[in-house]
Amino acid sequence: MSCNSEVFSAVKVADKIYWVGAVDWSVREFHGYETTRGTTYNAYLILADKITLVDTVKSGFRDEMFARIASVIDPQKIDVIISNHAEPDHSGELAATIHCIQPDVTYASAAGQKTLDLYYGIGDKITVVKEGQVVDLGGLSVVFADTKMCHWPDSMVSYCPERKILFSQDGFGMHLASAERFADEVDQGVLRYEAAKYYANILLPLSGFVQKTVQKVTDLKLDIDIICPDHGPIWRKDPMQIIQWYSQWADQKRNRKVVVLYDTMWKSTEKMAKAVVEGVIAGGAKPTLMSAQAVHRSDVATRLLESGGFIIGASTLNNEILPRMADMITYVKGLRPKGLVGGAFGSYGWSGESPTKLNAILEEMGVSIPAGPVKAKYAPSDEALQECFSLGKAVAEKLNE
Ligand code: FEO
Repeated sequence: MSCNSEVFSAVKVADKIYWVGAVDWSVREFHGYETTRGTTYNAYLILADKITLVDTVKSGFRDEMFARIASVIDPQKIDVIISNHAEPDHSGELAATIHCIQPDVTYASAAGQKTLDLYYGIGDKITVVKEGQVVDLGGLSVVFADTKMCHWPDSMVSYCPERKILFSQDGFGMHLASAERFADEVDQGVLRYEAAKYYANILLPLSGFVQKTVQKVTDLKLDIDIICPDHGPIWRKDPMQIIQWYSQWADQKRNRKVVVLYDTMWKSTEKMAKAVVEGVIAGGAKPTLMSAQAVHRSDVATRLLESGGFIIGASTLNNEILPRMADMITYVKGLRPKGLVGGAFGSYGWSGESPTKLNAILEEMGVSIPAGPVKAKYAPSDEALQECFSLGKAVAEKLNE
């Protein structure tokens, strides 16, 4: 694809700072996370004496990035590239960009240099920068801060003190393709939902590292006017908003909501799930019933981000958990949610391993389990439904403690 710079424009972020990234309207998959609203791969141009490009884009989007750069300056005039994060959605076009424009220097963290070398064989073209190192670009400068594991071991952020702009790579981003470039222009409900979905599906297992990053950013808070992430809209009106959300999500403070997730063969486990829901309501908590046949695993993770309860059920199939539920629980377990209360249930025909296995997985996840697992042979009896009700109620009441 070749892009025309009269069509693809840069967007001014501040004096001498431009967004020159790419919008991916159609991507729907980010290793297991369903990106229902697409995403952006943000790159930024700093028009200091040394013209600087902050991050690049995913493979296949270089022409769009170059066209946006060309709407402001000749890309060949770029002197410096900063690679804040080496994951291929930001570095997929880095090697080609270096080859094309031959910058004087390309900066990355020490781990970034190694990662970029392993991916693209360009370690010799990378100059390593350290925590706190300042680079004078002529008129403007950047200082680097290590944000290891937020998102990968190489991750770092760059801060421009003269413009009070934080180039935060994956941090404070979201998967949201939009015509609007700034968070204050986007529907605020969509903005919070997509920010939460991104946190729940990408950063939750790294919450300890996120807390360290938030602390670093909080220490600088008086000096941040704008946050420029590598995905989604730019935060210019109230950048502390997203920092506060991250702080809250990283602390994993949970409320009195309960996710009841189930899969069913012949509606027996579904009947059990509905009885669990009634128990949750009777216990004074707010349930959300999610059928594994109707929702995506990344929606479950999102709903669970602020929920205190997680009750799961599946019928037994060939001595195992139904496969959709096995997929979902494997995914959720990998996200390492903390502080949950929950339980398991399910119907069976002759062996009945599924609820026991689900219960064991919840135990491995450190979930506090006040009752169950509840099992029902073929179809739930009144007694089994009462047990399901009691499980839901017990989970809800434990959330009150
Ligand atoms: Fe957007 Fe960790 O890459």
